[in-house]
Amino acid sequence: MAVRGLLRLLPPVLLLALVASSVHGFGGYGGGNGSGKLRVGFYKYSCPEAEAIVRKIVAKAVHEDPTANAPLLRLHFHDCFVRGCEGSVLINSTKGNTAEKDAKPNHTLDAFDVIDDIKEELERRCPGTVSCADILAIAARDAVSLATKVVTKGGWSKDGNLYQVETGRRDGNVSSAKEAVKNLPDSFDGIRKLIKRFASKNLSLKDLAVLSGAHAIGKSHCPSIAKRLRNFTAHMESDPTLDRPYADRLRRRCWRPKDNTTELEMVPGSSETFDTAYYGLVAKRRGLFHSDEALLRNDVTRALVYRYRDSPVEAFLKDFGVSMVNMGRVGVLTGSQGEIRKKCAFFN
Ligand code: HEM
Repeated sequence: MAVRGLLRLLPPVLLLALVASSVHGFGGYGGGNGSGKLRVGFYKYSCPEAEAIVRKIVAKAVHEDPTANAPLLRLHFHDCFVRGCEGSVLINSTKGNTAEKDAKPNHTLDAFDVIDDIKEELERRCPGTVSCADILAIAARDAVSLATKVVTKGGWSKDGNLYQVETGRRDGNVSSAKEAVKNLPDSFDGIRKLIKRFASKNLSLKDLAVLSGAHAIGKSHCPSIAKRLRNFTAHMESDPTLDRPYADRLRRRCWRPKDNTTELEMVPGSSETFDTAYYGLVAKRRGLFHSDEALLRNDVTRALVYRYRDSPVEAFLKDFGVSMVNMGRVGVLTGSQGEIRKKCAFFN
């Protein structure tokens, strides 16, 4: 009888609650586990300066190179989608293990040096306290906040933060290139695949449409769009969902499809400022990736593209903060799970 008998006696509502809490209790990919233990200001007593230190170093990096904001935002996303937000994207490969960093979709990740600088300073001030996973989350928030400030002259928030970031994550001790390839969305994904990938992380259609707005900043490279520009199908030269004149222009820039050095701005002329220009481009079928255009292929995501295009930027910024917090909860390790790495590129 023991457990099974006891379960039969429980009212269905309580049973559901138990099941939900146990699903969320595993550290797998599913997302959201331990999210109850994340909280705003986790380091308030253990390392009161933590967020200020991250902010200072991110601000310095962005001041020296205004394009540094986008890779910091992207790092957090690529961390969260593989094993959850637990810092696995930062680990170096070893002889016996090809880590996430060296997976193809991660070849153009950047800003690892900024994360290392932050960690070094935090280890000096509060040794063994602040996780690399939290550094990624705070740095992403700061990077996007700084990119937003340019747009709204700081009018959106008193403390200069686009949203309050939850902390309390711990670092994982597995990092596998194979898992990165399996879990990260691909620029050629269609809407069904994207929805499925996001749902597998407990993220909604709205989160998908909102977080794709991250492509308001940053750049891409030709291999990420090569298939859209040439031999798209046996019958079609280029992806018919891509605006024709825009495709011609991109084809001229990417005349060598494997060229990994030419940089393509996500939003030509404004790829360092975080705003809603991305949605304007997508609505005109000028989103860089097939996955951007895919947002027009579902009623919910399409309506959001038009809503953000047509509303004051604040509406989007507010929703972006909410969705970033949702993403930051995916598969987190908390409490005594995992570890606090001494160096972000190495397990302890
Ligand atoms: C929805 C699925 C997504 C796909 C398929 C996708 C794909 C890509 C690709 C292919 C690139 C350019 C890589 C290159 O050629 O260098 C890129 C860049 C970028 N992505 Fe995404 N992405 C997605 C969602 C997101 C999300 C959710 C975020 C953040 C919340 C994000 C943030 C960025 C940023 C900021 C860049 C520019 C990076 C830089 O300038 O270095 N992306 N993405």
